[in-house]
Amino acid sequence: MTRKHIISGFSKLSKEKKIALIASRMTDSERVIAELESFWHRDPEIQKLFDEFSENTLTNYFFPYGIAPNVKINGELFMVPMVIEESSVVAAAANSAKFWAGKGGFHSEIISTVKNGQVHFVWKGDFNRLKELFPQLKEKLLARTAPITANMEKRGGGVLDMELVDMTSSLDDYYQLSVKFDTRDSMGANFINSCLEEYAAGLREFVNESGHFGEEPLHVIMSILSNYTPECTVRTWVECDISDFAGIDDQLTAEEFVWKFEKAVQIAGVDVYRAATHNKGIFNGVDAVALATGNDFRAIEACGHAWAARDGQYRSLTEVRVEGGRFLYSLTLPIAIGTVGGLTSLHPMARFSLQLLGNPSAPQLMQIASVIGLANNFGAVKSLTTKGIQIGHMKMHLLNILNMFNAEEREKAKAVEFFKNHKVSYSAVAEFLESIRKKRAKG
Ligand code: MEV
Repeated sequence: MTRKHIISGFSKLSKEKKIALIASRMTDSERVIAELESFWHRDPEIQKLFDEFSENTLTNYFFPYGIAPNVKINGELFMVPMVIEESSVVAAAANSAKFWAGKGGFHSEIISTVKNGQVHFVWKGDFNRLKELFPQLKEKLLARTAPITANMEKRGGGVLDMELVDMTSSLDDYYQLSVKFDTRDSMGANFINSCLEEYAAGLREFVNESGHFGEEPLHVIMSILSNYTPECTVRTWVECDISDFAGIDDQLTAEEFVWKFEKAVQIAGVDVYRAATHNKGIFNGVDAVALATGNDFRAIEACGHAWAARDGQYRSLTEVRVEGGRFLYSLTLPIAIGTVGGLTSLHPMARFSLQLLGNPSAPQLMQIASVIGLANNFGAVKSLTTKGIQIGHMKMHLLNILNMFNAEEREKAKAVEFFKNHKVSYSAVAEFLESIRKKRAKG
């Protein structure tokens, strides 16, 4: 649908009018309206809740909600909810989880849980003088946010540290007020941004209005949390004897499998093309848990990719160590995730997911998400280095292809049986359906 004219006032229309307007620009308006409405929740209260999550909402967009059972983390078993549309991701996580559950499961430890944000400012004034007066400024700034931080402090969190950073070697006259936070079980974006905006106002006032610094005005450019949280990090790993991989593939011995696996991870450590795909496989799992629990997967991904490039080259997020007959595979990842606030308690399915996970703390959820990331990555690298990814992927994709051809249930059942021993492809499925339909037509 293309339009030549700007629409004004769209956001002010009622939902029904928005739908009518969209439908009026498409062929078969009635069908469009019926289709959009068919995805509304049957409970109007719940639908209203969903409508209010975002703007210009017409309807809901469904994604599958699945479970990876048997996820053993530090000795405890979890059923982990995953929201993802890609066939085979849940199956891969579930298979890996089961495989590792028999080998001690996943191990996971929190390294740190510090979040951060910056007031970015530009100033031609005397930075050394500002640094001298910083203790005084800091006191004023902290006092300004006392009403905002009081609650967080009651929960054991708050502002941890604050410093001035000279960035002029990268950009003329550019400085930061850089602040560290402990946001406890919340992801903390609103808390951090509210504090930073207060600090920005306090900083501007202190420099521009106190008379300490002459005439050069300080310009606050922006105040915002950073989605790069290298100090909010979890390390997750699996380990076993190399001999435990005996039988993992009918073409490879345990040693050959481990050798190939190690090479695959090393390749992702040096080649950006492979690294991006390798890490995408990790985020298949991490994002699916983030979505299921109402967390901001874009923030989590942005952070993970920045972390993957922390030494100047984008690399694999996982590391492998093969030593003394043992195999150790680990993922170290910063994840700013929350179990309170945001959508976590508002979205009914996010709330359900957290209940299913035993109402974890944010650090526990960091562990769970990273475990699923490692599980998916292990499954992907295992498939890639053995039978290849397409066999499993296309088997899972088979139902999607059958649906594209509007296959009936009995046709699907026949196809699933047939493709147990045949390679799935779009054209092979088309051919198969045509042949069974022809046979049926002949009677
Ligand atoms: C597909 O979603 C993810 C993989 O490409 C990951 C990988 O190659 O490691 C299978």
